[in-house]
Amino acid sequence: MSLEVSYPFKNIENADGKLVVIESARNLPFEIKRTYFIMNVRKGESRGFHAHKELRQVAVCLKGSCKMILDDGINKQTVAMNSTKEGLLIDKMIWHEMHEFSDDCILAVFADDYYDEEDYIRSYDCFLEKGE
Ligand code: TYD
Repeated sequence: MSLEVSYPFKNIENADGKLVVIESARNLPFEIKRTYFIMNVRKGESRGFHAHKELRQVAVCLKGSCKMILDDGINKQTVAMNSTKEGLLIDKMIWHEMHEFSDDCILAVFADDYYDEEDYIRSYDCFLEKGE
């Protein structure tokens, strides 16, 4: 079973540059309540290492590249993040980790709710227990 669910984004490219368009519920499976950006990650650093109880997110790499590991407790998959043409779903109850950031990597993440630390599961063991 593949954990990789992607949503296509319109890219308008010409001699003047590139325009990437993301229209909330039209291009994503939800209305966006929060957007955040991950950048300036130092070489060798990794991020994530958590799951969300309810939050659903879609991540797109705007520049550079990184690797996203998605893990539902049974299946684990590594997805290369290097395209503005599609966003990757990070569904609720998916353990995720981000590795191998290029120096110039910029990740944009769209979320269906506001920040709430209570929604995080930051222990892998707790994540596995909750999934049972
Ligand atoms: P975290 O989600 O753990 O980052 P990552 O998964 O990229 O490693 O968040 C890092 C810190 O930033 C943590 O203290 C929570 C805080 N934070 C907010 O305050 N608001 C937000 O919207 C996000 C995503 C994080």
